[in-house]
Amino acid sequence: MTPKFEYSQVVNQEGIQRLGNILEQCFLMSPGESEIFFNRLGLENFRIIRQGEQIAGGLATISMGQWWGGQRVPMTGIAAVGIAPEYRGSGAALAMMQHVVKELYAKGVPISALYPATQRLYRKAGYEQGGFSCIWEVPTESILVKEKPLPVCDVPGTHEIFHQLYQHQAKLNNGLLDRHQGLWQRISRPDENEAVYAYLIGCADQPQGYIIFSQHQNQDGSSIRLRDWTVLTTAAAQTLWSFIANHRSQIKYVRWRGSGNDSLTLLLPEQTAKQKSAMRWMLRVINVSTALEKRGYSQGIQAELHLEVQDDLVAENNGRFILSVANGRGEVTSGGKGEMKLDIRGLAPLYTGLFTPQQLQLAGQLDATETAMSAATQIFAGGSPWMADFF
Ligand SMILES: CC(C)(COP(=O)(O)OP(=O)(O)OC[C@H]1O[C@@H](n2cnc3c(N)ncnc32)[C@H](O)[C@@H]1OP(=O)(O)O)[C@@H](O)C(=O)NCCC(=O)NCCS
Repeated sequence: MTPKFEYSQVVNQEGIQRLGNILEQCFLMSPGESEIFFNRLGLENFRIIRQGEQIAGGLATISMGQWWGGQRVPMTGIAAVGIAPEYRGSGAALAMMQHVVKELYAKGVPISALYPATQRLYRKAGYEQGGFSCIWEVPTESILVKEKPLPVCDVPGTHEIFHQLYQHQAKLNNGLLDRHQGLWQRISRPDENEAVYAYLIGCADQPQGYIIFSQHQNQDGSSIRLRDWTVLTTAAAQTLWSFIANHRSQIKYVRWRGSGNDSLTLLLPEQTAKQKSAMRWMLRVINVSTALEKRGYSQGIQAELHLEVQDDLVAENNGRFILSVANGRGEVTSGGKGEMKLDIRGLAPLYTGLFTPQQLQLAGQLDATETAMSAATQIFAGGSPWMADFF
């Protein structure tokens, strides 16, 4: 760990001001905009890196949950990693990331996730690609779904029912968040000069989904941006599409955030939905044992995987572990034969199922016996991991 930097919470008004200025400059915010950010995420969740008395940069930790195999795993999201330009290139960001990983371990957090502007920095702190977050776009004229099995009702503001419906969807999708309050606020509270519309699919009597969106105009034409959506039934998915298609006289296209193989697109008559971007967020296994024990697994699987993990940052993650999976849960004990050798980074895409063990072996991320490969393939098989939020 680089000794010349010190890591701490933000302590005084002067520190808040300086961190605010750094983050505003780093992320092209307007002057004063960092205050909204601080309020939304809570000032106590920000950390700074100092060189002597001087603040060189900071980041935000967002404590939430992430769904894996139908279980909620406590997860800390890392956001707003920013270093003042005059301190860049001297290891400040890496030192800060190493400190935060150690802090999360000490607090008992099993996993952490983030959106990287550069992978190289975060890989050095043990993060690796974990799942997708894709922006999809489809011209409203090409939706052509006419079935509208459910009524759609206008619901002003965020409603508790949205949280409940979302939670049902999240539980069934690997990687979705149990959102922090600040993320919910961002969905429902509009930016300046923006209106947010919220509709319950199936209305209050038989809610089966919802859609929250804003409307935009730019050089490509007018569009609807889904700020959030949930569909729990086929009827809700059909209704969502026909509802959006009915905007086609004024709205040219719709954009939404979905998985790499978004099943909403399967309801469309032609392949007119395109991925505008396909980002991969990164995951760090902070605590090998608790990360493997807290997640869920397929009910029918009974298997044992002997791991040998190497982690240069968290000493306790090093060594051999046996993961025994039965009845949808995993139990971890130390020891075993170490039949699958991997670095802590390689464990991330294995854990999330972003890549199969074969793919990871080919990419040089793990080395394993045939027995271990077959066990890992069964244990970590699942839907393509994704996330509906950006932070
Ligand atoms: C990205 C940022 C945080 C890096 O800060 P930094 O203090 O210069 O980073 P470090 O000196 O600790 O670099 C650690 C490693 O990451 C690499 N790295 C840092 N920034 C990089 C970049 N933009 N592209 C590629 N690699 C980068 C460094 O080369 C170094 O690896 P090395 O030792 O092998 O050379 C800083 O440039 C910044 O604040 N940028 C603006 C805001 C931003 O984009 N934040 C990231 C949000 S996810």
